Amino acid sequence: MAQKATLIVDGKQFELSILEGTEGERAIDISRLREETGLITFDPSMANTGVCRSEITFVDGENGILRYRGIPIEEFTERPNFIEVAWLLIFGRLPTRDELTAFSEKLTEHELLHEGIKHQFQHIPVDAPPMAILSATVSSLAYYHHQFLSVEDTESLAEAAARLISKVRTIAAFAYRRSQGMPFIYPDPKLRYCANFLHMMFSIPYRQYVVTPEIEDALNLVFILHADHEQNCSSSVVRAVGSARANLFASCAAGVSALWGPLHGGANVEVMQMLERIHQGGLSPEQCLRDAKDKTNPFRLYGFGHRIYKNYDPRAKILKQMCEKVFAQVKRHDPLLDIARKLEELALADPYFVERRLYPNVDFYSGILLRAMGIPTNMFTVCFAIGRLPGWIAQWKEQHEDPAGRIVRPRQLYVGPVKKHYVPLDER
Ligand code: ACO
Repeated sequence: MAQKATLIVDGKQFELSILEGTEGERAIDISRLREETGLITFDPSMANTGVCRSEITFVDGENGILRYRGIPIEEFTERPNFIEVAWLLIFGRLPTRDELTAFSEKLTEHELLHEGIKHQFQHIPVDAPPMAILSATVSSLAYYHHQFLSVEDTESLAEAAARLISKVRTIAAFAYRRSQGMPFIYPDPKLRYCANFLHMMFSIPYRQYVVTPEIEDALNLVFILHADHEQNCSSSVVRAVGSARANLFASCAAGVSALWGPLHGGANVEVMQMLERIHQGGLSPEQCLRDAKDKTNPFRLYGFGHRIYKNYDPRAKILKQMCEKVFAQVKRHDPLLDIARKLEELALADPYFVERRLYPNVDFYSGILLRAMGIPTNMFTVCFAIGRLPGWIAQWKEQHEDPAGRIVRPRQLYVGPVKKHYVPLDER
């Protein structure tokens, strides 16, 4: 028998259905609440609100579980292939070999930017933040791909997705080259997705950057671990913008902007700055924790805490192991990794963090790994965006294809002035 919840308001009783997800999560259906009772719910920051049904990603924050289309992320670590995961997220199942080859060929076909976009870079100041460049340039893809301003079938979605996933890495690398005053390096069709990105970042004319298999695997893994995380801030933004029937480029550009924030994807930059300050002696690990606990200080222990995870973020666990592996392979030692380990040890033993169940999140170790690949700090959030793009596309597609999908339009509790009259300027 379908379960119900009973709501009693002003002595009147209302029955509300209880919905259940495939992993047993239950939700009270309030979709007709206002119509039937005249009331709305109040849930600032939507921590208790399910805004959609989704088949893409499952997160169990209490138990530190993350699955893409049902597959635990730990199962993608053996021979990491970001493009296979991107296909899985967007199209809902693992691709066959032929499907994966066809999609990879499409990425190669579309890896160049329109010369018009390339010229745009010449007018960007060299010190422009790469996330601003990324958001603006992703949005400007709409100048040149009018045919995808509306996508009504899976085939044109696949075409638009391939262009975005391929070009975003070229845009990211060009943004970096611009900031260095270095010539742009065109993509090399012989290289696979991650190796090609590193080539565009680090090759110089007549001296090709050679990527090692360890670094290529590590970058694939970083992108995979960032690929989707259900209704996080940037994905919710992409869905909300898409719900107005805005095109995929505009919706994903909005996702880039949301991700930039230091409480979201921008936290990986904050973590690195925090670790560097400690390394340079400007802050001790103990003082760093004291500052993070001080409610009068806006500082936070970046890379710690999560709206959903009340346990170790499984992505952080994998990234930490990958850091140890990569440093052993390249026979290098990074003092920032020791500092991160020390901070983690102190925080996990500190009652403030224990009581609030604050653990390392995906951003705590990702920067150290990116740094080992030579990626500069101001490109960390850009790398997060490259990884998250398939998730945004999958979320946008799901929202777009939902027959019950309506424009996202929350309500509010108005607490402003009650009705009053306009006062002419010379009477004020
Ligand atoms: N350092 C210090 N205190 C923290 C931290 C932190 N990193 N994170 C949470 N807290 C505190 C809060 O101030 C709050 O304290 P209170 O109960 O005394 O008021 C308590 O812990 C509970 O916080 P939550 O309600 O769980 O936090 P919320 O869900 O609003 O925010 C967030 C989650 C933004 C990730 C937060 O933990 C944070 O700011 N972390 C640092 C930034 C960061 O690493 N962001 C990346 C997140 S992962 C991602 O977006 C990819």
